[in-house]
Amino acid sequence: MYVCSCFGITEQQVKKHAEDGACTPRQVASACKAGTDCGSCVRRIQALLGRGACPRRELADQGRPVVSDLEDAA
Ligand code: FES
Repeated sequence: MYVCSCFGITEQQVKKHAEDGACTPRQVASACKAGTDCGSCVRRIQALLGRGACPRRELADQGRPVVSDLEDAA
């Protein structure tokens, strides 16, 4: 099942990146570009990451706009 249809990134791939240390949508974006095109998948990615117990996820939850997060990564 695709999480990011712009880049054809699956839920499995996002989970794999999360296991490899990507704790925020931004880190997933720099790993595989998911979320860097239309951005509509960012919330899904965030939800997937949210299921893990990654403490650094809090950075993304502190009300920072996800879009500017992604602009940093671009
Ligand atoms: S669906 Fe992921 S950037 Fe468009």
